[in-house]
Amino acid sequence: MPTLRQLRLYWKPVVFLAASLPLLRLAAGTVGLAGVRLGANPVETIQDSTGLWALRLLLATLCMTPLRQISGKAWPLQFRRMLGLFAFSYAALHFANYLFLDRALDFAEITGDLTRRPYIIVGATALLSLAALAATSTAGWRRRLGQRWLTLHQLVYPAGLLVCWHFWWQVKKDVTEPLVYCLILLALLAWRAWWARRARRAAALPAAGAA
Ligand code: HEM
Repeated sequence: MPTLRQLRLYWKPVVFLAASLPLLRLAAGTVGLAGVRLGANPVETIQDSTGLWALRLLLATLCMTPLRQISGKAWPLQFRRMLGLFAFSYAALHFANYLFLDRALDFAEITGDLTRRPYIIVGATALLSLAALAATSTAGWRRRLGQRWLTLHQLVYPAGLLVCWHFWWQVKKDVTEPLVYCLILLALLAWRAWWARRARRAAALPAAGAA
């Protein structure tokens, strides 16, 4: 098992670099570096890639607690905040790409999109939730909010569901890809519900014994 020092010195930079790679690839493709190409429609490539990586990193964030529960080791929690902040950063880039490159800040187009493409409202709600989580993810906010911090951070579950809905809704024909992500999210939520029920039962047992 890695020590806290090894985690800080080696594993955190490795995970940081791995999570940055999709962004570095997009940056290289934008300036035509190292032969990387973004295809015939670079704006669409950036839109899809940032959206997908935001979702993947959100799911990776949600995997950390079950990993800790299954392994009995605390190290997965060391990566949770970093992965969550990466998920939010990709989602923010996804939104900025839509706003500046896809719609060129044309507010008539954007308001028209809200009725033509209502999945954007779902995505925006998810983004606002992720922004609230990112803004309050520091130790200071955790201390300040106390028990309410845990309640607030449960917002990550509806945010995940909204993102899956956003993805599903904008797919035109084949829903296989969003379906896979939805199933992974549902499995993670089911695990959490099962674990919480198990913990409640375990806590009730000594009380029942004493009675
Ligand atoms: C205001 C917020 C958002 C806007 C305006 C927005 C907009 C869009 C647009 C225009 C597309 C492409 C649709 C198409 O190809 O026809 C898209 C796809 C997608 N978005 Fe968003 N989105 C938002 C929030 C989010 C968030 C918060 C996430 C994830 C955390 C996300 C994940 C995705 C995914 C996974 C796709 C599908 C990519 C693919 O087809 O490969 N979006 N979004």
